[in-house]
Amino acid sequence: MSAGNSGQIDSVMQENRLFPPPEEFSSNSQIGSFEAYQELYDKAKADPVAFWGELARQELHWFEPFNETLDWQEPFAKWFVGGKTNVSYNCLDSHLSTWRRNKAAIIWEGEPGDQRTLTYQQLHREVCRFANVLKSLGVVAGDVVSIYMPMTPELAIAMLACARIGAVHSVIFAGFSAESIADRNNDAQAKIQLTSDGAWRRGKVLPLKATVDEALDKSPTVEHCIVLRRVGNDPAMKEGRDHWWHDLVDEASDNCEAAQLDSESPLFILYTSGSTGKPKGIKHTTAGYNLYAKKTFQWVFDHKDEDIFWCTADCGWITGHSYVVYGPLSAGATTVMYEGAPNWPEEDRFWELIEKYRINILYTAPTAIRAFIKWGDHHVEKHDLSSLRLLGTVGEGINPEAWIWYHNIVGGERCPIVDTWWQTETGGIMMSPLPGAIATKPGSCTKPLPGVLPAILDPAGNPVGENQGGWLVMTHPWPGMLRGIWGDDDRYREQYWSKVPGKYLAGDNARVDSDGYYWIMGRIDDVINVAGHRLSTIEVESALVSHSAVAEAAAIGRTDEIKGQAIAVFVTLKEGEPSEEMRNELKLHVRKEIGALAVPDDVRFTNTLPKTRSGKIMRRLLRDIAEGKEEVGDTSTLEDYTALASLRDES
Ligand code: WTA
Repeated sequence: MSAGNSGQIDSVMQENRLFPPPEEFSSNSQIGSFEAYQELYDKAKADPVAFWGELARQELHWFEPFNETLDWQEPFAKWFVGGKTNVSYNCLDSHLSTWRRNKAAIIWEGEPGDQRTLTYQQLHREVCRFANVLKSLGVVAGDVVSIYMPMTPELAIAMLACARIGAVHSVIFAGFSAESIADRNNDAQAKIQLTSDGAWRRGKVLPLKATVDEALDKSPTVEHCIVLRRVGNDPAMKEGRDHWWHDLVDEASDNCEAAQLDSESPLFILYTSGSTGKPKGIKHTTAGYNLYAKKTFQWVFDHKDEDIFWCTADCGWITGHSYVVYGPLSAGATTVMYEGAPNWPEEDRFWELIEKYRINILYTAPTAIRAFIKWGDHHVEKHDLSSLRLLGTVGEGINPEAWIWYHNIVGGERCPIVDTWWQTETGGIMMSPLPGAIATKPGSCTKPLPGVLPAILDPAGNPVGENQGGWLVMTHPWPGMLRGIWGDDDRYREQYWSKVPGKYLAGDNARVDSDGYYWIMGRIDDVINVAGHRLSTIEVESALVSHSAVAEAAAIGRTDEIKGQAIAVFVTLKEGEPSEEMRNELKLHVRKEIGALAVPDDVRFTNTLPKTRSGKIMRRLLRDIAEGKEEVGDTSTLEDYTALASLRDES
C-alpha cells in the first residue's frame, strides 16, 4: 500500500471480503471466539494497569516483586516499579526446570545449508559462556554492546548474554555502512563491538569485519571487537583490540548467574529512521518489554508447545528482536533462524525450509510475498507445505491481492493470516487479528490487542468519524512502549507526545470501518517504507548533499511493485554535468553513507527543484513525476519542472 493522501487510499481500498477463522482452528485456540476476545479486551480496557499487573506477576520470574504497576509521568513510563527480573532468565532458566530443557529453542540453517539446533539447555550454556566473555572484557551493567552480525545463533546468544548481565545491546543490521555503524556507536557510546569475519549473501561473502574496521576508526568509545568466524576468510585483526570469538569462548566458564535487574533497566537500543536526518536510538527496558513480547507472541500466533515458529526477519530490526528471540524464547517456543536470502540457491528456499523443518507458523513481510508472487507459484507448489497452520505479515500494509495469494497458494486456503501492525517504538504487536477469534479482511490489521487503546484523531485532537482518515494515536501507556530516545528526551517528547498532547502519536494515518476494523493508510511524515524498512527521506537527502557535486536534493518514495516503495531522488548539481557516471557515483555515495538499503532506484537531475512560494519542496509533484503521472519530456539529462510547478503552486 503506498503512502499518500487519504482520499487516494480510501478510494482504492474497497475491500469487503471477510474470512472467518476456520472452526477447527478456533476450537483449538487459546482465545477461540470473538466473544472471548471482546471479553478480554473489555476487561483490559476497564483497568489496563491492573490487567498488565496481573499478567506480569503470572508471566515473568521475579527475583523481587514490584510494588507499583505503572508510574506515569507523561511522557515517561515506568512499569513494574521496584521489581527485579532478568530477560535472559525468563527466556532460558525458566524452562530448565521443566521438560522444555531438552526442547529445541533455536533451529538454525545457514545460507550454504549448514544446520544447527540448540536446545534450551544448550542455548543457556552458550549464553552463560558468552556473558562471561563480555564480563572478562570489562563489560558491566549499563555498558552498550554494538552488534553487527549475520543471522547466526551467535547473534541471538550475544543478545541474550547482554540481557543476562544488564549490558545494553544495539544491533545494527548488517547491510548498513561503516558511516552508519560509527554514527550509532558514537550516539550510544558503545564499548564493545561484535561482528563476524563475513556473512553469506546469495553465495557471496560480505566482508563485515572490513566494514567494522572502517567504522571503528571513527568510534573512539569502542575498546574491544569480538569476531565470529563464519565464512573463513582472513580479516585483519588489530592487536589488543580484536579477539576471535572462539578463543574467548573456549576459555569461558558456563556458569553465570542472571543479574537481578531493575524492571526499568535498559535492555536494548535500536536505531530507526525518524523525520529528521539523524536516526533515533529507540530505548526499550527490561520487564515491560519482556512481558509484552511474550504475551503478544502467545496471543497473536496462538502458540502451542509443539509448534515450530519461523519469523523471517533479521535481528537487525525490531521484528527480529521481539519475534525471533525474546517473544518465542520467553514462551518456550521453537524458533527458526535462517541466515540467507530467500532466492538462494533457488527461489524456493523458504518453501524448502518449511517442508524440511515442518514449520507450522510463518511470519514474513509483504515485500517478500510480492517477490514470491513474481517468482511464480510453481516454486511454492513444488513443496509440501501442509505443516503450516498460521501465516503472518508485518512491516507495511499488505495489498489485498497479495493477501489472497498468500492465503490461497501458501496457506492452502486453510491458514488464517495475521496482519500485524506495530513499530520499533511499540516493542511488540499492537493491532492484529487473534487468529481463532477475529474474522480477517485482506488489507486490514483488524483490531487492537487486549490492553491496547488506540484512537484516530484529526490534527486538533478530535476523534474522526467512521472511515475517515486521521492520525493513529495510543491513549494509554502499554508495557512494551519505548521509554525514550537514547540521550534525547526533548526529541522524544517532541516527536511522539507534542502534536496531540497526552497521546502517543504513531506517525501513521489510519481509518476505522463500520465493523471497527483498523486500516493503516501510510505515514504522516517524511518516512518511506522500502521493502518493509523505514527510511527517512531527509537521511537520503543529507547523504546526497554531502557529496561535493550536489547542491540540493529531494528524495521521495514512489510506488514499487515489489518493494512497496522505491526511492526516487531529484538532484541539482553545483559542479559537474548530469551523466550516467554521475548517477552511479551518487548511488555509490549513498551506499557508502547509509548502506545498500538506501541506494536510490532513480536519480534524476534538474536545474531547480520545484518549490512553493514559501520555499517548500513540492514533494507531491515530484512523486507524480516519479510515478510517471506527469509528462516531463526527456528525462535523460537535465529536467526543468518550473513550468509544472507554476501550474500547481501547492504546499
Ligand atoms: C508500517 C516494524 C501497515 C507503519 C514492526 C509503521 C505497517 C512502520 C504494518 C513501523 C502493517 C508496520 N500494516 N503498515 N501491518 N506494520 N507498518 O518501526 O507505517 O520498522 O509505523 O516496525 O511500518 O516500522 P518499524
